[in-house]
Amino acid sequence: MEILDNISLKPYNSFGIRASARYFTRVASVPELQEALAWAKREETPSLIIGGGSNILLRENYDGLVIKNELLGYEVLETGEDFVNVKVSAGEVWHQFVLHCLEHQYAGIENLALIPGCVGASPMQNIGAYGVEVRDVFHGLTAVHRYEGYTRTFTNEECAFGYRESVFKNVYRDQFVITDVTYRLRTNPVFHIEYGAIRQELERLRISELSIRAIARAVINIRSSKLPDPAVIGNAGSFFKNPVVDKEKYMLLKAAFPDLVAYENEDGSMKLAAGWLIEHAGLKGYRNGDAGVHEKQALVLVNYKDATGPEILEICKLVIDTVFKKYGVELYPEVNIV
Ligand code: FAD
Ligand code: EPU
Repeated sequence: MEILDNISLKPYNSFGIRASARYFTRVASVPELQEALAWAKREETPSLIIGGGSNILLRENYDGLVIKNELLGYEVLETGEDFVNVKVSAGEVWHQFVLHCLEHQYAGIENLALIPGCVGASPMQNIGAYGVEVRDVFHGLTAVHRYEGYTRTFTNEECAFGYRESVFKNVYRDQFVITDVTYRLRTNPVFHIEYGAIRQELERLRISELSIRAIARAVINIRSSKLPDPAVIGNAGSFFKNPVVDKEKYMLLKAAFPDLVAYENEDGSMKLAAGWLIEHAGLKGYRNGDAGVHEKQALVLVNYKDATGPEILEICKLVIDTVFKKYGVELYPEVNIV
């Protein structure tokens, strides 16, 4: 294991924030990961595991050990009449896994095409898009305890997935490092095209026969037209979660703002489109120096060139305060602030 000193993290975070790590290492196997964690424990220094760095905001230099996850590999664990269980190492790039599934005709994650980042982070916030979340296809995972070094497995139930939530973001926050995830995919597909934008795009593409490839293509087209590419403008996707309010609050808001966009949850609560709230509070395209609110998608905060973490956080605070003042609704960041 090689521990490097004072390494720039700019290439390792999709916001493109110029911050550095006091110590930095790469791990390509579980024993290497355990060794790195033991080193941090011995040195009494904090550790931060990163995959693609596409859901973090660095406030300042990281005064600890950054561990870049490079655990690679796929393994078919089990095949049944209509399913296959595929174990994927945490350092694999998520979209490459989607492409692997398309190639092998494994259905279930085609709606999640083009989400940046690595497989290891996919259960962290139960990634989701266009009507599908990973919990719909998640079978289990293996993780290493950060301080004790032992490995344990988690079932779907034990992960307690919710909207952009899992145990790894709350009760077990900073306790475990995920080393592999097993997905249960279907070999006879069930298509999810309820999301209006997908249907419209499939029509535009004149798709006559529905397939997982066609859905992935539609999703890729929609995402590419809406979301800024981190290679061009630094960002971490949606900066805030869509806020959930009860029916009563929703009715009051709807009366005051008839165009408000919202979706009903299974429990009757309403998920409000935060992008709509931010845009109609006048902040879409707002910019202060190199930090701003994206001009096409108000839920995405951006770094045009050289914004610092605190400058992005200033915009975050402005958005939260403005939205609260106008609608009485509290926004919470989705991005992990380090
Ligand atoms: P990182 O940013 O490296 O890490 C995120 C957090 O997880 C950090 O706290 C990190 O310490 C922790 N972590 C990382 N790996 C592990 C591990 N192996 N074990 C334990 N903890 C770990 N998300 C969606 O849900 N849906 C979307 O549609 C979506 N679209 C996006 C679009 C863009 C343009 C961008 C930039 C981001 C988008 N995201 C979306 C957010 C992001 O892609 C996901 O959250 C992704 O899962 C992050 O993966 P990562 O490897 O980059 O995680
Ligand atoms: N909207 C506006 N103005 C905006 C942005 C959006 O009015 O500036 C409206 C849209 O017109 C639409 C509604 O808000 O009616 C929802 O917009 P969109 O379909 O773009 O989805 P979103 O709620 O902004 C969520 C996820 C995305 C995911 C998409 C597609 C969250 C926090 N974000 O975005 O996930 O890709 O749906 O399913 O749930 C991410 O988590 O990083 C992410 C990008």
